[in-house]
Amino acid sequence: MIKPDGVKRKLIGEIISRFEKRGFNIVAMKMVHIDRTTAERLYEEHKGKSFFEELINYITSGPVVCMIVEGEEAVTVVRKMIGNTDPKEAPPGTIRGDYALTKAENVIHASDSEEKAKREMSIFFVENEIVAIM
Ligand code: CMP
Repeated sequence: MIKPDGVKRKLIGEIISRFEKRGFNIVAMKMVHIDRTTAERLYEEHKGKSFFEELINYITSGPVVCMIVEGEEAVTVVRKMIGNTDPKEAPPGTIRGDYALTKAENVIHASDSEEKAKREMSIFFVENEIVAIM
């Protein structure tokens, strides 16, 4: 998911291009303005943490681009491509390492396990919005 700062900074094309060039297929995509209920569901695991309110306010502050990236070891490779949650720890060449400086506004979110990927896909997409590429 390209977060509100990534959309505002016109990084959508750049980010999609990186995934495509790496060889992944984009099998679903949409731009949405997440409502508070959906945001709280998406980030349920962070409820109670000090940054939760800030995170919910930020993720609902503008449109995001949600996509399903399909391919070999997609969860692991995409996480490597986006870099550490704290962009200051993300090496150059990663998306956060190239385009972000703070944990709060770190341009992009990606699922950190297959189980989470399934859960997050079901929050944003219904089955007939996911295409089969080949
Ligand atoms: P994301 O991959 O979307 O998953 C949870 C998000 O919480 C994370 O990226 C960060 O943007 C945000 N986050 C994590 N830790 C902090 C923090 N200490 N302060 C603010 N935001 C944080």
